[in-house]
Amino acid sequence: MKAINVGLLGIGTVGGGTYTVLKRNAEEISRRAGRPIRITMVADKNLELARSVTGGEVALTDDAFAVVSNPEIDIVVELIGGYGIARELVMKAIENGKHVVTANKALLAVHGNEIFSAAQKKGVMVAFEAAVAGGIPIIKALREGLTANRIEWLAGIINGTTNFILSEMRDKGLPFAEVLKEAQALGYAEADPTFDIEGVDAAHKATIMSAIAFGIPMQFDKAYVEGISKLDAVDIAYAEQLGYRIKLLGIARKRDSGVELRVHPTLIPAKRLIANVEGAMNAVLVQADAVGATLYYGKGAGAEPTASAVIADLVDVTRLHTADPEHRVPHLAFQPDQVQALPV
Ligand code: HSE
Repeated sequence: MKAINVGLLGIGTVGGGTYTVLKRNAEEISRRAGRPIRITMVADKNLELARSVTGGEVALTDDAFAVVSNPEIDIVVELIGGYGIARELVMKAIENGKHVVTANKALLAVHGNEIFSAAQKKGVMVAFEAAVAGGIPIIKALREGLTANRIEWLAGIINGTTNFILSEMRDKGLPFAEVLKEAQALGYAEADPTFDIEGVDAAHKATIMSAIAFGIPMQFDKAYVEGISKLDAVDIAYAEQLGYRIKLLGIARKRDSGVELRVHPTLIPAKRLIANVEGAMNAVLVQADAVGATLYYGKGAGAEPTASAVIADLVDVTRLHTADPEHRVPHLAFQPDQVQALPV
C-alpha cells in the first residue's frame, strides 16, 4: 500500500529519537499502521545535524515552511517547540490540509482552542500524545481507556526535570543548581528551564489533560502555578523526617462550580506509590467513577520515550487517515463548537 509521507520539523532530541525508532522498528510499525510510514523531508536550522542523524537519506531543508506547503507530505510532525514559529507552522499545515502530530505542550495549552477549531473545520487531525508525560500513553488512557467513566480528578508528576532535581537533592544532598545542569545535559529540561522549575511546563500538561478528561477548552490562563524554586534542602529533609516526600504535582479536579487546575509542590505520605516515583520518571493518578483509581507510570522525557508517543500518534493518524473523515474527530481534545466552558 502507498506509504504515508511525513515531514519532520526539528531534529533535536525528540526528532532524532523519532527518526531512529521509526527506522529501527519500521517493519512492525508499518504492519500496525496498515501501510509504511516514511519520513521523507526534514527541516532544521542545523543542516549539519540533520544530515548526521538521517545519513542524507531524506530531503533536508532549513525552511520549515517548505515542508508544510509540500503537496507530497501527508503528516507534519512539529518538534520545534514554543509558541512562536511553531504556531505559524501548525496553522499553515492545517490550512494546507495536513494532519499534525506535535509534542508541543506549550503551544497546545495556550493556543490549542484556535488550533483544534481550525483542524476541525479543515477535517484534519491534530495528535499530541507526546505533549504530556513523554512515553506514557496518558492521552490515550484518558480519551479511550477511561471513556466509560466520569473522571473525578487527576494528579500527576508530569515534569521530569523537577522530579529529578527533587530526587537528587534528597538522595545525594546535591545543590539545586548542580542537579539542574545535569538535567539539562541529559536532555530533560526545556530550552528555557524556568518553565520546568516554576511549574509552567507542568501547568501546560495539566491543562491539556484537563481538557480531555473533562471536555473543556484549554484554560491555561486560569491555572494556579507554583514551582520548586523556593524549596530548600531543609524543606526536603524536614518532610522526610515527618514521613513525607515533596513532589511537584499537576492537579485537575472537577468541582460543582467548575474545574480546579493547579500545580504546586505537595507533601505526599512516603508510603504512597506516587511518592516513590523518582528521577525523571513521570506518573499520573486518575480517579474515575467506574474504574476507581488507576496509575500510569513511565519515562516522562528523553529521546526515545517521547519518540514512542510521537510514533504512536503517527500510527493512529495513518489508520484514521485511511478511514472515513467522519471518524477523525477523536483526535481533537474536545468538540470546540459544542463545549460548555466551565469556570476554573
Ligand atoms: N522538560 C520536560 C520535563 C520535558 O522535564 O518533563 C518533557 O516534557
